Amino acid sequence: MTEQPIVAIRGLHKSYGEREVLKGIDLDVHAGEVVCIIGPSGSGKSTLLRCVNQLETTTSGSINVLGEETTDDDVDIDALRTRVGMVFQQFNLFSNMTVLKNCTVAQRKVLGRSEAEAKEVALKNLEHVGLADRANAHPNQLSGGQQQRVAIARALSMNPDIMLFDEPTSALDPELVGDVLKVMRELAEDGMTMMVVTHEMAFARDVADRVIFMDDGVIVEEGPAAEVINAPTQERTQQFLKRVLDPTHTGE
Ligand SMILES: Nc1ncnc2c1ncn2[C@@H]1O[C@H](COP(=O)(O)OP(=O)(O)O)[C@@H](O)[C@H]1O
Ligand SMILES: [Mg+2]
Repeated sequence: MTEQPIVAIRGLHKSYGEREVLKGIDLDVHAGEVVCIIGPSGSGKSTLLRCVNQLETTTSGSINVLGEETTDDDVDIDALRTRVGMVFQQFNLFSNMTVLKNCTVAQRKVLGRSEAEAKEVALKNLEHVGLADRANAHPNQLSGGQQQRVAIARALSMNPDIMLFDEPTSALDPELVGDVLKVMRELAEDGMTMMVVTHEMAFARDVADRVIFMDDGVIVEEGPAAEVINAPTQERTQQFLKRVLDPTHTGE
C-alpha cells in the first residue's frame, strides 16, 4: 500500500523505571484496516494502545498518527487525541450523566459543537449501537454490555479517524459479549480503522485483516488472521493459542 498509514510506529520502546515493557515495536495500520492484538497478560498490549493515544509518553522511537509525529514538541496532543477514539475494558462512563449527555459532553467542550448538533450526532451513534431508546437513562440502569455500547457511541460521536479497543468485552458477563462484538463487527464492515486488543479469537479470526501476537514487549508474529490463529509458526504463539482456545483452560 502506498497510501500513508493512519498509524506508523517505529522502534517504539517504553519503560516504567527500570522495567522495559515495549522493546522495539514496528507497526503500520492503514485506513480501513482492522488489526487485532493478542497475547498473554502483561505482554504490553495496553501500553501499546495507550502510547498510540498519547496516554503514555514513549521512551524512544516514534509514533506517527494521521501524519503527525506525536513525539514532536509542538504537536497538539489534545487535537490529535480527538481523532483517536478509545474504548476501555471498564467503560468509564460518567455515572452522574444520562446516556445522551455522556455522548454530547466532549462534542460540546472539545469540538465546540452546538447542543443541537451534538445531540443529533449522539442520537445517530446511539441508534447505530441499538440504544437510541435509552438516551435518557443513567449508566447504572443499563447492563454492562449496554454501557459498553454507549462508550462506543460516545467515542464515535467525536468522528475519530481510528478506534482503539482495549479488551472491550473482558469485563462483561458472557451473554453480553455478543452484542458488543456485533457492534464492533458492523463498525469494521463500515470501514472504520481499528486496533483491537482482544481475547475473542473467533472475532479476531473473522473480523481482523491482520493479527499481531505480542509477548514480553515484542511482536512475535503477525499476519493474516487465518494464518496467525489457525497456523501459527512461532512456538510462543502456538503455546498461547493452545491455552486460550482450550476450553478447559480458564486463565488469560
Ligand atoms: N503505569 C505502570 N507502571 C509500571 N508498570 C506498568 C504500568 N503499566 C503497565 N505496567 C507493566 O507493564 C507491563 C505490560 O502491561 P500492559 O501493557 O498492561 O500489558 P497487557 O495489556 O498486555 O496485559 C506489565 O508488566 C505491567 O505490570
Ligand atoms: Mg491490557
